[in-house]
Amino acid sequence: MLLEVDKLEVAYGDYQVVWGVSLNVDAGESVALLGPNGSGKSTVVNTISGLIRAKAGAITFGGTSLVGQPTHARAPLGIAHVLERRRVFPHLTVLQNLQLGAWHPTAKAARAETLERVYRLFPRLGERSAQLARTLSGGEQQMLALGRGLMALPRLLMVDEPFLGLAPQVMEQMKGVFETLKGEGMAILFIEQNVRVALSMSSRGYVLESGRLAIHGPSQELLASPDLRRIFVGG
Ligand SMILES: Nc1ncnc2c1ncn2[C@@H]1O[C@H](COP(=O)(O)OP(=O)(O)O)[C@@H](O)[C@H]1O
Ligand SMILES: [Mg+2]
Repeated sequence: MLLEVDKLEVAYGDYQVVWGVSLNVDAGESVALLGPNGSGKSTVVNTISGLIRAKAGAITFGGTSLVGQPTHARAPLGIAHVLERRRVFPHLTVLQNLQLGAWHPTAKAARAETLERVYRLFPRLGERSAQLARTLSGGEQQMLALGRGLMALPRLLMVDEPFLGLAPQVMEQMKGVFETLKGEGMAILFIEQNVRVALSMSSRGYVLESGRLAIHGPSQELLASPDLRRIFVGG
């Protein structure tokens, strides 16, 4: 296993929001982490990437324990996290944003090559490389956020709501990019409320409900599960 999360518990102060969540992602595998708004998806992934400290539980990546390690220790190991809401540096150019993604030594050494690759995946970013990020459309900013993640040469890409608010055409383009990355052997953890899109791109899924793992299994089984409907529709 590439990523293993075991019995994770996370609290904001006294307010616990993640309860005993276990999940794993194999090398080269695409997995969906699903759940309604507020179910704890971002908290789980933010804990994996070290932005939040776990209250209990284990997180290992390629056999290395991540618990207690600073956030910046993740990128050199091969974990990239594209945060919810396309966080880019608004007052830096597209190029500067991308270059910042390649800060660790291995990524830096390959920076020029990776940049070409990102521009091949997103020609739009190449055309706009000198533009300030804040002048990009929402869809282009999402491309930039993803491109910056790729600049770190991840083995595991964790993307939080990558399709949120995208126009259908941009969404199709984004899906195409993920398919390319999967074809290249990258493992991807999709954090999504959009169940159908996420499961269509993943072989397995985990569904959170109020901070607990409700169901998990192969995507086809989840899509047919009455529990999935109950969790998302309520009742
Ligand atoms: N910084 C925070 N401080 C306190 N509570 C938070 C914070 N971030 C999220 N929460 C709460 O934790 C729960 C899970 O949130 P989140 O992980 O963002 O869910 P999701 O990503 O599935 O929408 C929610 O009840 C949310 O209100
Ligand atoms: Mg979220």
